[in-house]
Amino acid sequence: MILSDVFIDEKEIRKRVEELGKAISADYAGKDLMVIGILKGAVVFLSDLVRCIDRDVGVTLDFMAVSSYGDSTNTSGIVRIIKDLDCSIRGKHVLIVEDIVDTGLTLSYLVKMMLEREPESVRVCALLDKVDRRKVEVAVQYTGFVIPDYFVVGYGLDYSGRWRNLPSVHVVVPERGDEA
Ligand code: PRP
Repeated sequence: MILSDVFIDEKEIRKRVEELGKAISADYAGKDLMVIGILKGAVVFLSDLVRCIDRDVGVTLDFMAVSSYGDSTNTSGIVRIIKDLDCSIRGKHVLIVEDIVDTGLTLSYLVKMMLEREPESVRVCALLDKVDRRKVEVAVQYTGFVIPDYFVVGYGLDYSGRWRNLPSVHVVVPERGDEA
């Protein structure tokens, strides 16, 4: 795969993350909020997002690791929990933070699983949303950018584990010899 030009640059991302932080701050003002990052892709976005949430929201962090892709660019549809939450979410306001929603299979599974643990509420914040790829309906309350079906990397997103460190979002394209 070859890294192409910048698709969403640092400045655009920063502006949108600030807007999302403001919206979340307004919605949860005076409340406690458990922000749950879905490893590994959400880490970069989450670390910027939580710093844009006002201090009158009582933010705590927890993380969950799931696997849905393997190394291919196509989802397997199988969601496997690799690391569960450290804390109970019972009676708490929960915000799931994802880097990207694609088919929606991962998120739909996660939301159902969280709801079974009887939190006060569950909402979702995703940096990127490929709405055209959706296979199952899932509500995303806070969306950074709706994007077409491009394979994107950077700002936490990877291809075979690489390129998560890039500060902007890029599209990757196959080079000659790559599998179709
Ligand atoms: C990505 C992303 C979501 C999921 C979205 O994770 O972070 O969890 O795929 O796809 P879906 O809507 O089709 O279910 P990935 O498995 O690539 O793991 P990573 O976050 O560690 O990169």
